[in-house]
Amino acid sequence: MLEPLRVGVAGLGTVGAAVVRILARQDNALAERCGRPIRVTAVSARDRAKARGIDISGHAWFDDPVDLARSREVDCVVELIGGGDGAAKDTVETALASGHHVVTANKALLAKHGLALAPLAERWGVALSFEAAAAGGIPVIKTLREALHGNAVWRVYGILNGTCNYILSRMETEGLAFAECLKDAQRLGYAEADPTFDVEGFDTAHKLSILTSLAFGTEMDAEAIYIEGISKIAPLDLKLADELGYRIKLLGVAERTPSGVEQRVHPTMVPKSSSIAQVMGVTNAVTIDADAVRELTLIGPGAGGDATASAVVADIADIASGTIRPPFGRPVARLEKPQRAPMQRHEGGYYIRLTVPDRLGTAAGVARHMADEEISLESIVQKRSDIAATKDPHGRSGAPVSLVLVTYAATEASIRRALDKIAADSLVSEPPQVIRIERE
Ligand SMILES: NC(=O)c1ccc[n+]([C@@H]2O[C@H](COP(=O)([O-])OP(=O)(O)OC[C@H]3O[C@@H](n4cnc5c(N)ncnc54)[C@H](OP(=O)(O)O)[C@@H]3O)[C@@H](O)[C@H]2O)c1
Repeated sequence: MLEPLRVGVAGLGTVGAAVVRILARQDNALAERCGRPIRVTAVSARDRAKARGIDISGHAWFDDPVDLARSREVDCVVELIGGGDGAAKDTVETALASGHHVVTANKALLAKHGLALAPLAERWGVALSFEAAAAGGIPVIKTLREALHGNAVWRVYGILNGTCNYILSRMETEGLAFAECLKDAQRLGYAEADPTFDVEGFDTAHKLSILTSLAFGTEMDAEAIYIEGISKIAPLDLKLADELGYRIKLLGVAERTPSGVEQRVHPTMVPKSSSIAQVMGVTNAVTIDADAVRELTLIGPGAGGDATASAVVADIADIASGTIRPPFGRPVARLEKPQRAPMQRHEGGYYIRLTVPDRLGTAAGVARHMADEEISLESIVQKRSDIAATKDPHGRSGAPVSLVLVTYAATEASIRRALDKIAADSLVSEPPQVIRIERE
């Protein structure tokens, strides 16, 4: 058997401690599978005395992860500190510059600096592996980078944030408001004290930028992503979606379109019959549409210590077996510069919920503005409240009611123009709710 692969783990929190545990538990099996033992030789965290449920007495301790990253006692540095800059970035840069392999679960770091870090790995012929950085325990990076060589991928989309999917699932099944479900998510440890990063779509965007690059062989372009979160979704939208045959999910979508690569993160209506609509709670899912395999959906845990560590350990095992691939599937110099498809050119179906006065001619006025922009309506339904109906059975009470429109494929630009005209005509009393519909 070959010499052991010596691993240094920087960051011993939820994921780091689970990695150390799994490497110990699977010790023999990993050695058999990789033809070489894997040994943790060094660790680093902020507080050496903290109880972590793992035995670190046999490993060299480093107060500073950058010292671990340049140590001659390790071959592979596993960065599980987190954050797009600071200690995580310094650790990864130092490890690569020292000729060490790197494994990380850090999507923030990759989305921001992945393009600059990958050439460092290429220069030394070492790995920069990040299976755990998108969709946690789901092996979607390997699938895109290695398993679909015979395909041209034209769309990849998914539920990439468990917190958002948990909140939307509870809102839908229990009719609860966003704020109440968010509080529960925080109590259960699914959401951070400051949930902005998750619920406003930024976490999904980081993961999407990585998937886009791998799917299309393009340079990561996180700045090009259109981002909308879920905080403005109301229980009424989930109820109306259900009536229309849809569920609402926060999706990250990357698609090759005639105007370029479209990348967007927003609440999305998906047909109830689709695979992705079945995914409830904190579970993640990714669907890949490609010419040969057609549609492939991977569903599984997107977070959690053990599930994420499962992906980290798979990367370490590849390195131990000598399987080193360019981080983004091809050398960075051969990645295409993506042509950005502006959101205004996005074309698809739309659900639009307007709050309008219950008054003769309102629906007709709205429909006229839609027609002027050449937007065809699949349906237009006025939802009268019981109060409005009691006040005036002829529908002229002036009380606020919901007018729900579903459009056939239209461009974002035409929808926005029509809504501006509707607002300018004082046909609505509140900002409109607009949710894009994703076709299967
Ligand atoms: N948790 C998940 O489910 C999950 C899923 C997918 C990806 N990830 C990614 O995995 C990475 C780790 O996440 P996590 O949830 O395990 O984080 P965590 O529980 O907060 O752990 C972070 C660890 O880093 C250590 N650390 C922080 N700053 C440090 C510094 N300056 N020097 C040395 N050590 C430092 C901490 O030390 P102390 O323990 O001493 O404080 C802690 O052990 C992140 O990039 C995250 O995005 C996490």
